[in-house]
Amino acid sequence: MKRFDGRVAFVTGAAHGQGRAAAVAFAGEGAHVAAFDVARPLAYPGYTMGSAGELASLRAECEALGSTCLTFEGDVRDGAAVAAAVEDTVARLGAVDVLFNNAGICAYGLAHELTEAAWDAMIDINLKGVWMVARAYVKLFPRENDLGGDRGLRLRQGVDGGSGPRHPDHRAGAGGLRHHRRGEGVRQGEDRPPGPG
Ligand SMILES: NC(=O)c1ccc[n+]([C@@H]2O[C@H](COP(=O)([O-])OP(=O)(O)OC[C@H]3O[C@@H](n4cnc5c(N)ncnc54)[C@H](O)[C@@H]3O)[C@@H](O)[C@H]2O)c1
Repeated sequence: MKRFDGRVAFVTGAAHGQGRAAAVAFAGEGAHVAAFDVARPLAYPGYTMGSAGELASLRAECEALGSTCLTFEGDVRDGAAVAAAVEDTVARLGAVDVLFNNAGICAYGLAHELTEAAWDAMIDINLKGVWMVARAYVKLFPRENDLGGDRGLRLRQGVDGGSGPRHPDHRAGAGGLRHHRRGEGVRQGEDRPPGPG
């Protein structure tokens, strides 16, 4: 019996980086995975985002582990795309047990060096995007998240973090998330994907 046998994990920012590692870890522990990623370059930041090819290779990797993996190309800032992916996941795999709300960006700049567009992109993705994804789930299962015990959504926000003078926008997003979590009807559950120990 694996730790997440038969459970469903919805992972954003799943094409590469931490999100991909989490998706593979959940699949390795028996979960079915819904992998959501923008899968294309963004105007900001300029570094490489995930790709459609990475989503396809993730699906193959999860399937090799015996897991079903649905893939979705979409931006967490696009409420309609997020809602459609969550609804499709629930229709095909059943209720989501783990929401690994990880899609995010991290760019560097002192406060006075950042452009308004850079600040807006960071806040839109790292703060509003996390809320958009959580909202899509909670809308479908408002009561389930009030339940105690072992079930109910486990919410993990990968974008938390970022410190130092070159992360003013990242820190603002992370601070906003902490306040958002306190007021959110979603219980804070396991804080990390399955791993050794
Ligand atoms: N890696 C670290 O040490 C670390 C530490 C603290 C916080 N974080 C934060 O965690 C998050 C993930 O980190 P990472 O190192 O895996 O980053 P990464 O850049 O390697 O991967 C991020 C993934 O999210 C996707 N993504 C980005 N914007 C998106 C959007 N708008 N909609 C949908 N998908 C989107 C990308 O395509 C990519 O696949 C980032 O916000 C990062 O700042 C990372």
